[in-house]
Amino acid sequence: MIYLNGTFMPIEEARISVLDRGFIFGDGVYEVIPAYSHTPFRLSEHLLRLQHSLDGIRLENPHTNSEWSELLEQIIARNSSDDQYLYLHVTRGVARRDHAFPKGVAPTVFIMSNPLLPPPAELLATGATAITAVDNRWLRCDIKGISLLPNVLLRQMAIDAGALETVLIRDGFMTEGSASNIFVVKKGLLLAPPKNNLMLPGITYDVVLELAEEHGIPHEVRAISEQEVRAADELLLTSSTKEVMPITRLDGRQVGGGVPGTMFALFYRLYQDYKDKVMRRGAVHTP
Ligand code: PDD
Repeated sequence: MIYLNGTFMPIEEARISVLDRGFIFGDGVYEVIPAYSHTPFRLSEHLLRLQHSLDGIRLENPHTNSEWSELLEQIIARNSSDDQYLYLHVTRGVARRDHAFPKGVAPTVFIMSNPLLPPPAELLATGATAITAVDNRWLRCDIKGISLLPNVLLRQMAIDAGALETVLIRDGFMTEGSASNIFVVKKGLLLAPPKNNLMLPGITYDVVLELAEEHGIPHEVRAISEQEVRAADELLLTSSTKEVMPITRLDGRQVGGGVPGTMFALFYRLYQDYKDKVMRRGAVHTP
């Protein structure tokens, strides 16, 4: 069951106009929110980022946070999996094709849910393979926009190379993955690139840094050069759907010892514990 512009319906019945600006221009933004045991994870943070994305494309938020919260609860309840990932999407609506913003047009609001499956145990045991590529996206990667063509092409480069993710390098520095954030570990120090317009401010990225702070794990947020990525002892990938994953091969070479490292093991456990703790607290935390 999905939600489209005020109505809950089976996904097969959902229809949008071919003139929707999301379809024509990719003129919209989205969020991916994990829900564990029927409870959205870090909902306020996701809704705050949604607001940032909407502000970034100058589109008014069609709902208050409590309305979003209610809609998401309804979608979760209408889908059977305990763990789901919620996909929420707002476009500038339906209008005659013209690049300029249309006047007086209602936005299109779409929410769907899919089962959220943890990364396969084998993958966590061996680690993932990644490649690098030049980050050729625009200069507002902090907006979670639905115009994902560069990300699609960059991610496909990884798939074509038999890898899982593409680590992006812009002007000699690492930005993020095509659909994830990337951390570097060197000599027991966790390194994260600083949030700016060149990367998506990941919600999982924030959790990892909060856990590092809370547990006194040495960490630094600063620009990370391509050389540092290549010389890493460990690389960690984070996203709402993949949580925390080790990358053990980059461009055909081993990362560190070529197996998931101790920092990965530590953060994997801390992340699972954190999830359990938050979910046990139970509250669907209404923003
Ligand atoms: N993508 N960077 C990019 C470019 C992303 O697309 C994502 C997530 C992230 C990680 O952000 P978060 O921890 O908030 O999920 C970073 C989602 C999962 C997607 O597009 O499916």
